Amino acid sequence: MDTIQIHDKSFGIFLEEEKIISRVKELAQAISIDFAGTQPLFIAVLNGSFIFAADIMKSISFPCEIQFVKVSSYHGAQSSGKVQQVLGLNQNIKGRKVIIIEDIIDSGLTIDFLRTDLLKQEPESISICSLLLKPKALKVKIDVQYIGFEVENHFLVGYGLDYDGLGRNLRHLYRVIE
Ligand code: IMP
Ligand code: MG
Repeated sequence: MDTIQIHDKSFGIFLEEEKIISRVKELAQAISIDFAGTQPLFIAVLNGSFIFAADIMKSISFPCEIQFVKVSSYHGAQSSGKVQQVLGLNQNIKGRKVIIIEDIIDSGLTIDFLRTDLLKQEPESISICSLLLKPKALKVKIDVQYIGFEVENHFLVGYGLDYDGLGRNLRHLYRVIE
């Protein structure tokens, strides 16, 4: 009943919306405490993080700004291993405290590329907040300050994450049925 079909794959419920939202609120509270009074700049990574970023922002209790960048690295259900920034920032981040918002860290190459790129502009600091992290898939060492859930190496869709363009609108997170 809770199985869904996207393209050639079946998916079953992995995390329900209610659980996701309550964890997102915890992350936002932690960020609100850590960055109170500092007016950080959130940088959300499109497309996958658009729902997560929106929900995080709604629970942040201090004045803050958000910008969006686009980094493409993923095709279908397997990471290509190549990262390429498609859409850059139109705001100077020199001297700013930056918080990157990402949907999921898999190999870590996307976030590593983005972080390295942003560091060239000499921000005061860069913190990373990712809804999901696949520790066993990491190919580079990444310090992630805020993690929603650590997950196994299964392909997930929903809550902003897609499988070849589809599934971003699903309210829950779904896991591929192998
Ligand atoms: P990485 O560069 O390998 O860390 O890949 C990060 C990007 O790949 C994320 O921002 C997602 O857009 C995408 N991605 C990684 N794993 C999944 C998944 O399980 N489902 C959907 N997209 C994923
Ligand atoms: Mg993404």
